[in-house]
Amino acid sequence: MSKLKIAVQKSGRLHDDSMKILKEVGISIDNGRDQLKASAKNFPLEVFYLRNGDIPQYLKDGIIDAAIIGENVLIENGNNIGIVEKLGFSSCRVSLAIPKSDAYSGIQSLNGKRIATSYPNTVNAFLAKNNLKAQLHIINGSVEIAPNIGLADAIVDIVSSGSTLFKNNLEEVEVLLQSEAVLAVSPKIGVEEQTILNKLQFRLQSVLKARN
Ligand code: PRP
Ligand code: MG
Repeated sequence: MSKLKIAVQKSGRLHDDSMKILKEVGISIDNGRDQLKASAKNFPLEVFYLRNGDIPQYLKDGIIDAAIIGENVLIENGNNIGIVEKLGFSSCRVSLAIPKSDAYSGIQSLNGKRIATSYPNTVNAFLAKNNLKAQLHIINGSVEIAPNIGLADAIVDIVSSGSTLFKNNLEEVEVLLQSEAVLAVSPKIGVEEQTILNKLQFRLQSVLKARN
């Protein structure tokens, strides 16, 4: 019998809440994070623990059928990948921030500036929409340090509590997008897997309703 292959973040902000919601829909998975793959005991499902940034490509290629992933990651690298359900946890925004000591005089003032980010596609879309040109520095993590070390004039990164911005003396001046955890589906999902996904989605909807 077919199983639905679902990806969950291996480690990071979404991991715990993703496992929690699967548990709440009655799916019990028998292992910790040590294995990269685990089967559910009572539902036709296999969980793959993957790095966030790798998940969109696996969905595109149909290596996995579905994923619990941050909407922002899909927007950054996920052309053609459908969102089946918003899951209501891990809310954040992708925002542009500048040093607190710099005066901000609107979007136009970003023209010609150096922006550090891990989200180049999202930033480029924002720049194009606003007819701006800027120089991008792509960094994979600790983006907020960039202005302090003289690498950039501004940053675009995830903001959740805002404490990382605060600690680095940065001020959020533009929100590029809002994000939360979502259930995403591969464009190549098979018929049987789709049926299982529908069942999973139905259960998720009941849990989400009860939470509200
Ligand atoms: C993430 C993100 C921000 C921060 C936002 O970084 O890149 O820096 O969390 O959260 P906050 O608003 O609650 O402070 P993370 O700690 O995951 O590390 P990384 O940037 O090195 O990946
Ligand atoms: Mg960070």
